[in-house]
Amino acid sequence: MIEKAKRIAVIPGDGIGPEVVAEAVQTLELLCDTGGVQLQFEHFDWSADRYLRDGTSLPDGALKMLAENFDAILAGAFGDPRVASNQHAEDILLGMRRGLDLYINLRPVRLFHNSLTPLRNRTIEDIDFVVFRENTEGAYCGAGGFLRKGTESEIATQEELNTRAGVERIIVAAFEYARLNKRSSVTMADKSNVQRFGGDLWQRVFKEVAARYSDIEARHQYVDAMCLFMILDPAQYDVIVTNNLFGDILTDLGAALQGGLGMAASGNIHPGRTSLFEPVHGSAPPLAGKNIANPIGAILTSAMMLEYLGDGRASRLIEDAVRYALEQGQTTSDLGGSLSTADVGGCIRDRISQMANK
Ligand code: NAD
Ligand code: IPM
Ligand code: MN
Repeated sequence: MIEKAKRIAVIPGDGIGPEVVAEAVQTLELLCDTGGVQLQFEHFDWSADRYLRDGTSLPDGALKMLAENFDAILAGAFGDPRVASNQHAEDILLGMRRGLDLYINLRPVRLFHNSLTPLRNRTIEDIDFVVFRENTEGAYCGAGGFLRKGTESEIATQEELNTRAGVERIIVAAFEYARLNKRSSVTMADKSNVQRFGGDLWQRVFKEVAARYSDIEARHQYVDAMCLFMILDPAQYDVIVTNNLFGDILTDLGAALQGGLGMAASGNIHPGRTSLFEPVHGSAPPLAGKNIANPIGAILTSAMMLEYLGDGRASRLIEDAVRYALEQGQTTSDLGGSLSTADVGGCIRDRISQMANK
């Protein structure tokens, strides 16, 4: 149980973000009503709409305000076809990840119901691992530039930054997680056969850190092979650790294993600090405003947030209610059902109320 009220900044964002975040917030509010959890919410309108209206993306002073006044941030998605540059999304989302130093992007790949995976003959036993994605550097460092832009001899460079400290802290986090959660292996994915410098650093640091965790098996795979094995034999994974870009790509693949992007949850974490929780999916413009997006990824994200805030019981209550809704076939169309976003959220909340009254 959370002792003191926790303050949550809610940033619904763009597209389906507001629709799915509304379901997550209502679910959290219900948990507040049924006892145990105490949360206070404050909403922020940082989004494409706001950016197009007055040019504001991440307001000045926002990072300090979030770090000082909030325990966690719950966000929807950022990205809008009207902002071709994606500038507001970069400022807000990457701005918070980098500016709050949320170096762990924790993305569980967990199958909640056997029927959801597109893989033949795979069950919930086979698809259950977590990805530790480095979240502050790598290809997302924003370094690079143009030479002779717009000419026949144009050159574009896109750099990747790997710091010793950055690589070490994400690998340590993966091993610590494995130890704490009794996971037997950590698999590091890179492309060190081609990326000879960054890859070399990751290889060396991985071996060094692994030597400190003799109880955990340390494995390495090239990231292309990992894409293959995630499909052919996902049961081999416990914890995966990788860089920012590979982690982004692998976790969309991981989302597919779980039933699609509508199912995947994530946390952007710096242990002990204000951390950011958001579903893996984006703003899904074709679905926006139709009340048809799957809210489960966002709802499971709110469960991750509760776990982070110290309320594992409430977190598991949400997960059990999600499992129940899936068993009953109470789903949106991406999972083969015919319910709306709000109805799926409602089913999950009904189940939570039922269980809380037992
Ligand atoms: P996307 O995740 O928004 O959607 C891809 C497809 O996945 C959708 O068309 C839809 O078929 C499915 N999908 C996603 N979420 C779903 C849900 N909740 N329920 C049902 N189906 C769902 O990826 P995209 O189309 O490549 O990107 C759209 C915009 O979102 C872009 O601007 C992109 O940059 C942005 N984006 C933002 C985030 C984020 O804020 N964390 C993540 C990914 C993409
Ligand atoms: C994600 C998204 C973001 C990323 C984009 C929107 C910047 O794809 O959260 O997975 O690449 O990290
Ligand atoms: Mn992504």
